[in-house]
Amino acid sequence: MGDEPVMATNDDASECKRGAVQLGYWTDNYISYFVRNIDRRAPEINRGYFARVKGVDNFIQRFIGKAGSNAQIINFGAGFDTLYWRLKDEGVVISCYVELDFPTVTSKKCYMIKRNKPLLDRIYEQDGEVRFSSTDMHSGNYHCLGVDLRNISVLKDKLHQAEIKYDKPTLFISECVLVYIESECVNRLLQWLSSTFSTGLFINYEMCNMNDTFGDIMMGNLRARGCNLAGIAHCKNLETQRGRFLNNGWIGSKAWDMVEVYHSLDPTERNRIEKLEFLDEQELLVQLFQHYCICIGWLSNDFADFDIHT
Ligand SMILES: C[S@@+](CC[C@H](N)C(=O)[O-])C[C@H]1O[C@@H](n2cnc3c(N)ncnc32)[C@H](O)[C@@H]1O
Repeated sequence: MGDEPVMATNDDASECKRGAVQLGYWTDNYISYFVRNIDRRAPEINRGYFARVKGVDNFIQRFIGKAGSNAQIINFGAGFDTLYWRLKDEGVVISCYVELDFPTVTSKKCYMIKRNKPLLDRIYEQDGEVRFSSTDMHSGNYHCLGVDLRNISVLKDKLHQAEIKYDKPTLFISECVLVYIESECVNRLLQWLSSTFSTGLFINYEMCNMNDTFGDIMMGNLRARGCNLAGIAHCKNLETQRGRFLNNGWIGSKAWDMVEVYHSLDPTERNRIEKLEFLDEQELLVQLFQHYCICIGWLSNDFADFDIHT
């Protein structure tokens, strides 16, 4: 199987996000520059994306609150994610933001950034100078770089170009990415990060509890689209998700399924979004939530008290 179907999962994720934003699940003033189509998805899917975006955002805010303006963010398999611009709108200042994805995906992203003034203006505001190649772009603190994450030596080189500092607190994010990468390669990546960065937090959102009938259906759907789920072994349960960090040099790890994450979110917000669309099948939503999780890993005790409940 080639990498194209895996890259196409970004189109699907971006379209789902755009659709949910359009319906009012959360605010994102930038996703529409990356996705023109609005396909209406089932309410369960929209709620799933709401929980994912809000659950991950909570950890991002907490990390930035702790690390301050020294913080760096590296978003693995970022696709058309708009976090950089959303943080800018919130007035958040960090020292370096790097997005990594296959060169085919980053070249599209760079093109869209170049073509859409509101995206480019937000980057110029900070730095004044932006440099583009066909697959990469660099500015003072925003970098969008094409790399296959299985290739650590190219990755190192790209992070060097982005002037990432190994001694600054760094937030690593991956949302539905590691499952597409061979387990040995993910292990190598996590080992390299833990042995190279002095302090940091990893937020990983992806599947879990895949060893049941619902999990089989989810895997069948992805495989039917040609996606090789090369990293699925670590998605067996919350233990295997945590074990991936603990076995690769991270000093601590916690994981929660999305049922727990959803119930930890602000009740007023949950109440609001539950009124947006009528949900026919509550059971289906619960099953969906049971099969996704947020797992965090940390490299220093600064982040050991991070939890969904605090
Ligand atoms: C499901 S999409 C998620 C995109 C984004 N993280 C989000 O949540 O909207 C998975 C992304 O991972 C990227 N990806 C998967 N394997 C990769 C690899 N080996 N190297 C670089 N990017 C990869 C894909 O190209 C795709 O953009």
